[in-house]
Amino acid sequence: MADPVISLSKVTKRFGPVWANREVDLDLFPGRVHALLGENGAGKSTLMSILAGRYSADGGTMMMHGREVSFNSPAKALDHGIGMVYQRFMLIESMTVSENLALSAGKAHGRTGIDQVIHQTAERYGLGVDPEKRVFELSMGERQRVEIIKLLMLDAEVLIFDEPTSVLTPPEVDALFEVIDQLRAEGKTIVLITHKLEEVLKLADDISIMRKGRLVFSERIDARQMSRQQLARLMVGRDVVLRVDKKEVAVGETILALQGVSGDSPLGGPSYTDVTLEIKQGEIFSIIGVAGNGQVGLVSAITGLSQARSGTITFDGATYNAREWRMASREKIAYVPEDRYHSGSIGAMSIADNFALTRLAAYRSGMAGMVLDREKMAADGTRAIRDHNIKVESSEDSAGSLSGGNLQKVILARELTRNAKLFVAEQPTQGLDISATEEIWRALLECREKAAVLLVTGDLKEVLSLSDRIGVIFNGRILEIIDAHDSDQVDRVGLLMAGVRT
Ligand SMILES: Nc1ncnc2c1ncn2[C@@H]1O[C@H](COP(=O)(O)OP(=O)(O)OP(=O)(O)O)[C@@H](O)[C@H]1O
Ligand SMILES: [Mg+2]
Repeated sequence: MADPVISLSKVTKRFGPVWANREVDLDLFPGRVHALLGENGAGKSTLMSILAGRYSADGGTMMMHGREVSFNSPAKALDHGIGMVYQRFMLIESMTVSENLALSAGKAHGRTGIDQVIHQTAERYGLGVDPEKRVFELSMGERQRVEIIKLLMLDAEVLIFDEPTSVLTPPEVDALFEVIDQLRAEGKTIVLITHKLEEVLKLADDISIMRKGRLVFSERIDARQMSRQQLARLMVGRDVVLRVDKKEVAVGETILALQGVSGDSPLGGPSYTDVTLEIKQGEIFSIIGVAGNGQVGLVSAITGLSQARSGTITFDGATYNAREWRMASREKIAYVPEDRYHSGSIGAMSIADNFALTRLAAYRSGMAGMVLDREKMAADGTRAIRDHNIKVESSEDSAGSLSGGNLQKVILARELTRNAKLFVAEQPTQGLDISATEEIWRALLECREKAAVLLVTGDLKEVLSLSDRIGVIFNGRILEIIDAHDSDQVDRVGLLMAGVRT
């Protein structure tokens, strides 16, 4: 057995009262993919951010090739060949790919040679991306490729991927896995943080599981021999089947109807064309498609973040043109946006304040409603934390300190209490662990007893588990609307997502 490239010993990290990592021992070996698993908030990203020099540990040691190392910055870690692709990419959006890469790797290659090195690296690993494009024009998959090229240009020996597939389309996932396979074959040391058991079973050579800051399981096992069930039990300490009971709910009146709605995405993304659909009280209507097929623009028109170009929208019996709907929409519908960091919450504010964000009217008091009832806000925040099993110390903690899963639960709890007639959830379980996913699925099903639910996701499993009807979007058009209770029809969803009509 080869010697470990990295050995962590008793690594400890605290954020105030929270022990993000507690005396963690971990060995990483060359030519192997090490899956790091655990519930939301377990401490996975923190541990790997310490290894990658973004945080410094409060205790413990790190050895690389048998020598003790410590990094006070990501650049220092990269000098040693350790790099991380973060959950949120670290690129400057207004700059081109080539400029971004020159910033980090320019020193090693010189400004003029850089395009050639980008080209060679991209070629060698099949990481195609146009160096002249600005980052904001790139899909999430392309941005990730830029991050990977960055590490490879700097000769990284240890590559850490933090939930790399949560923003990718299925073909992009396959391409990433091929890159990871190639890196493993070249003897690189790979860490893969993920919540998706299929990925672990497909890729991992070694598995470690964290719970509440501690490493509770670490073994060299042939993951490919394990079952989903075994893995799930190891991860959450109980059986999780990721299946929810769907109660029969009587379908009621139409809440939202779109008639010939067309428009563009707010950021110049793909457009949507002639969309006609209706969503009824008591049903979960899903829009599924591979990312980049117009769903982002369509949802932004429905939620009033942007204005459709043409078509009419009927909500609860009243009909609006695109402009009128944009003004009216926000107070009428509850919305859990895809980007929970930028549009869903304000990181610097407390959880209680974030919880009140879209419902401020409920807290107005004092003369002319100029004062906010902070006591009530704090009490509601605390109750939401309890009801939704959100793991934090206090509702006064900042939202920015929450793990991805817990932040999503805060946003979901907030929107659920608005008691809107339409609830729109966009990629609601992206990045969430399996128990949080189960909780959110249950919440959405419960929501359908009181409201109409629009679910927008790229996750086929999620759609099949929850939906009553499914609209498949391709190239900006709803190709077909399928009854999710008709199993013969449901089998066609995957093909329709690829634009194939049979
Ligand atoms: N910058 C920070 N400030 C304060 N607390 C933090 C910070 N970063 C993480 N924490 C806390 O440390 C703990 C571990 O968080 P971490 O992000 O490492 O979890 P994770 O396992 O990556 O979770 P997820 O699966 O949701 O990404 C959590 O309780 C989190 O709230
Ligand atoms: Mg994380």
